[in-house]
Amino acid sequence: MEIIAEMWGNLTEFLLGEVRGILEGEKKAYKFIMVDEPIIVLNAESAYPLRRAGLLRRVSSLLYWGKEVPSLNINLNDYAIRVRKNGNWSEREIIRKLGKGIKGKANLENPENIVRVYACKNIYVGIEIREGVEQDFEVRRSKNLPISYPITMHPRLARAMINIARVKRGAKILDPFCGTGTILLEGSLIGMEMHGSDLDERMLRASEINLKKFGVKANLTRRDVGEIEGNYDAIVTDPPYGRSSSSMGEKLNELYERAFKRFSDVTDKVSIVLPERSAVEIGKKYFNLREIFPVRVHKSLTRYYCFFERE
Ligand SMILES: C[S@@+](CC[C@H](N)C(=O)[O-])C[C@H]1O[C@@H](n2cnc3c(N)ncnc32)[C@H](O)[C@@H]1O
Repeated sequence: MEIIAEMWGNLTEFLLGEVRGILEGEKKAYKFIMVDEPIIVLNAESAYPLRRAGLLRRVSSLLYWGKEVPSLNINLNDYAIRVRKNGNWSEREIIRKLGKGIKGKANLENPENIVRVYACKNIYVGIEIREGVEQDFEVRRSKNLPISYPITMHPRLARAMINIARVKRGAKILDPFCGTGTILLEGSLIGMEMHGSDLDERMLRASEINLKKFGVKANLTRRDVGEIEGNYDAIVTDPPYGRSSSSMGEKLNELYERAFKRFSDVTDKVSIVLPERSAVEIGKKYFNLREIFPVRVHKSLTRYYCFFERE
């Protein structure tokens, strides 16, 4: 089926990586057709797995794309048309022309069907797919968590980190620097088996409380990253990066060296966010770097979201 996927923010490359990660993790065939911000269009066996993406706002099944507002003949019972523009289009004109061809009752308050229109370089029309994973990330922003610290990640980025690891639903994932539990929470909510550890007892307590609020659980252990053991489908983690996130006095590069060495004993896949290119080089000693997405946080801080894999 052909799918329109609407981006959250402007992290286009990272989003394409996340979509690849989800579909390859779930072993679904796919092909990208085009990018026309704020959307991408792709062909995939199923749209359902994409509902777990962090960097997507919504997905729709494509009805039409082209240069002109189409006159489609569709029967929708109860519907609303929602338009997002990126360019010089008239929203009124789009709704008037499209509305003419739709049989059914317009219902702006609580529609059964939403016709999504993206008026960008081209015009795209689709029906929104709303079944599957709940997409409300706002309720899990740090300000809405029972316990948060400045280190707490944005839930959408935490979700995307899990997805770029190319894991199937139900995978066993470890976050060995779990902090307040953002990655654990996002993984649990999409059906992964999450394990978390941290050196700081307060962080484990914070993770436990935050997970409880959303009715999910993870296996939590207090330990240094050097003590992790077992076997995991992937490690997904956000290690200390200086600034507000403590490395307990240890030099960062020494900690990363020790961490990557240990990771290579327990998994073949690592999705990790790093503060510098030099840290990426350390990872490359132990794994192959498959994806890297630089995200600028502010003028003097860029973070590198990386996916490492061993052949
Ligand atoms: C950047 S924070 C993780 C933040 C987390 N993603 C969140 O959203 O809250 C890094 C974490 O690593 C922990 N940590 C630092 N050194 C460690 C070590 N040697 N072993 C295990 N955990 C460590 C810190 O206590 C901190 O919670």
